[in-house]
Amino acid sequence: MKLYKLKIYTTLCMVLLLTAVSNGGSDAQPTLKNVFAEHFLIGGALNRDLVSGKDPNAAAIAIRHFNTATAENDMKWSRIHPKPNEYNWEPADRFVEFCEKHSIVPIGHCLIWHAQCPSWVYRDDDKNLLNREALLYRMREHIMTVVGRYRGRVKGWDVVNEALKSDGTVRYSRWKRIISEGNEEKQYDFIAKAFEYAHEADPDAELYYNDYSLDTEKEKCDGAVKIVEYLKSKGLRIDGVGIQLHGGLDYPSPESLEYSIKALAATGVKVMVTELDIRTQASGYRGADISRVRRRGTEDANDVSLEIQQKLADKYAELFSVFVKNQQDISRVTFWGVYDATSWITGSPLLFDSHYQPKPAFDAVIKVVENSK
Ligand code: GLA
Repeated sequence: MKLYKLKIYTTLCMVLLLTAVSNGGSDAQPTLKNVFAEHFLIGGALNRDLVSGKDPNAAAIAIRHFNTATAENDMKWSRIHPKPNEYNWEPADRFVEFCEKHSIVPIGHCLIWHAQCPSWVYRDDDKNLLNREALLYRMREHIMTVVGRYRGRVKGWDVVNEALKSDGTVRYSRWKRIISEGNEEKQYDFIAKAFEYAHEADPDAELYYNDYSLDTEKEKCDGAVKIVEYLKSKGLRIDGVGIQLHGGLDYPSPESLEYSIKALAATGVKVMVTELDIRTQASGYRGADISRVRRRGTEDANDVSLEIQQKLADKYAELFSVFVKNQQDISRVTFWGVYDATSWITGSPLLFDSHYQPKPAFDAVIKVVENSK
């Protein structure tokens, strides 16, 4: 080959390689949304950089592989409604627009949660705690405004997030304390009100309850079943329960995961896996309680080793086998993030590495479908 031809050939190869990388993978690489098209929707939590164009390689992965997405942070109360009369719509609007542009089903996350909610929400101008009526008024205003803005565009909302303790009863929070007026018999009251208002704001939107450790703690899962039953007994709409599934290399077991899917599905609602990731670090706190996660404390230089990545692949394969087996009850599987570098738990918990490349875990997940045929 003449030198100039060799140069053209080399340049062409480079262009093809770069195009493949910026596409989130080569064209020969299977896409998650196609592979699971007959099973459930598949998606990820999208951050602000991704939807605003600052992280185009992450956007390419989302566009190529996902048909659903959740806003990682920008629809949480502290972000979208930081001050009493101030809403910050920009980032959430970008998220919804990104999804619409790329035929991705957008999920709203989350309306009522004890965390990432500013302290002014619970107090009046003199800093005194609100009473039940005033807090309900504030809750309704927030839900009507946020859900109302995206009416007909956001398919479903995590209406209440993480209301349960491990024993299946409702955890202490300002929401519970003030709205139940300290009466345990009214522990579900704030949850019911949130679902009532969300339905009023968008009668066509699906409404979900979302929590962690439902896949590992039987009593907590049974507590979520009770919430569904309570809401139904009051004639309120609830369409699904989200199992967050922040897992680890050795949990949840297939048995406890399957227990939770079947127990929740038996109430007649959809089950969705809403925040899937697998903690690879061997040290530090390894559970899913956001208030206990210390990023530095969970750093572990070994977590990108081949051995750990193989364990990660095996665990993902095991979990996806359970999802596929129970596909009639599962409507959606959403990863909590897109690629390792931006995960909230650092480490190496996702299918794409910090350089946007698919890992052995990606291939293992794809193979689950091939093996199930
Ligand atoms: C919880 C929340 C998510 C997210 C994760 C950690 O699971 O539901 O919104 O904050 O914690 O980032």
